[in-house]
Amino acid sequence: MAEQLTIPAGSKAEKYAFLLPQIRSVVSNETNRIANLANVSAMLREMFGFFWVGFYLVEGDQLVLGPFQGPLACTRIRKGRGVCGTAWEKKELQWVPDVDLFPEHIACSSSSRSEVVVPLIRKDEVWGVLDVDSVQLNYFDETDTYWLAKLCDEILSSL
Ligand code: SME
Repeated sequence: MAEQLTIPAGSKAEKYAFLLPQIRSVVSNETNRIANLANVSAMLREMFGFFWVGFYLVEGDQLVLGPFQGPLACTRIRKGRGVCGTAWEKKELQWVPDVDLFPEHIACSSSSRSEVVVPLIRKDEVWGVLDVDSVQLNYFDETDTYWLAKLCDEILSSL
């Protein structure tokens, strides 16, 4: 694989559509999960400039910080806590336009204003979540939720 991301000019949807095969190529050529999650975080950050993007992985009754790109983050999150813990508990994507309005949001950084968290579910079990944060209020839309969920399907298919 060419270890360089190609970033097209164009709409957000076009960027995601361009990113998907690049992610597929990366994760299908490597079996190490941490390496793959690290590269997916880097590719999302490079493509969209997200403030924070990364993974939390289930370990017992907690989510533990995994590969990410961005500022220092909290390391452990209990099930049902914050946006990540809620995505885990409900097994549903969480789309939060304003983190201040989300009960019990965990503010790792006060700069983060909106976020999307996608649970990674295999055989009906959540084994981790993808967390994407923006400094802009109401940054994410249906394009992001659609494509982030699709990218997670791609990651899951390689595990
Ligand atoms: N936003 C998360 C906490 C993790 S950080 O944002 C990196 C939450 O409320 O679950």
